[in-house]
Amino acid sequence: MKVTVVGAGAVGASCAEYIAIKNFASEVTLIDIKEGFAEGKAMDLMQTASLMGFDTKISGATNDYSKTAGSTVAVITSGIPRKPGMTREELIGINAGIVKSVVASLIQHSPNVIIIVVSNPMDTMAYLAHKSSGLPKNRIIGMGGALDSARFKFRLAEALGCPQSDVDGMVIGGHSDTGMVPLIGKAARNSVAVSEFLSEERMQQVVEDTKVGGATLTKLLGTSAWYAPGAAVSSMVHAIICDTKKIFPCSALLEGEYGLNDISLGVPCIIGKNGIETIVEIELSDAEKAKFADSAVGVRAVNELL
Ligand code: 2OP
Repeated sequence: MKVTVVGAGAVGASCAEYIAIKNFASEVTLIDIKEGFAEGKAMDLMQTASLMGFDTKISGATNDYSKTAGSTVAVITSGIPRKPGMTREELIGINAGIVKSVVASLIQHSPNVIIIVVSNPMDTMAYLAHKSSGLPKNRIIGMGGALDSARFKFRLAEALGCPQSDVDGMVIGGHSDTGMVPLIGKAARNSVAVSEFLSEERMQQVVEDTKVGGATLTKLLGTSAWYAPGAAVSSMVHAIICDTKKIFPCSALLEGEYGLNDISLGVPCIIGKNGIETIVEIELSDAEKAKFADSAVGVRAVNELL
């Protein structure tokens, strides 16, 4: 099956690389507006095939969406990344126009495509994709929670002094420095609640470090992160292409779920060949409900800027 990645920048190229190395898609097409950039990234990646042992065919094109025709999944990473000190929300002015036109171009050549939105402010960009495309809600997925949950697990393992493979944790709500909701009360170390190992203070530190995970890296790197975002979205692509039914927290259009309507917000979703196959309504504590509600208020405020 064919996957398109729009934006051959660091996130898009990392996503393409991980998809190729995992060898579950026959083709990956990279698209960028910068002349020759996607072609160059694709060729460079293809020159790793004999070394990394994959058969995926990676190609690149400069702003020619006819080359994306027949894509099962398309990942939108295009737009500007944030600089140190910026919030994701400050990117809306430029990125909204880009995302809207990219969505239209993708659907024109792949009418059945499932779209994963990465561009920030991601929840609002996913909402815009829904509103501007009219696609069924299962076929537009916002990637934020998968990345934030990976950062949550990193911080939990750091605090616990254990391998990340022994940790489970999920982040819901908006993909924003202030709005995301790491579910610390549900986090576990091999099925044992982390509160058995960590003090209240240390757990709160894990939550706070998770929330600013993106900003921390932007300060260190001078631009947005790319390895973990690329890995997170490639895992979601894998779940669709291979119909794994894996649960990811994704920005999904809510129509009554969690008591919310007309908003794209991070909630647990079963991901398979149809994209968002089920929105899973989990039991939230009163404190988690309050944080989730606050997160929705924050995302709606950004949606108003559209
Ligand atoms: C991040 O958190 C780019 O929003 C993405 O790194």
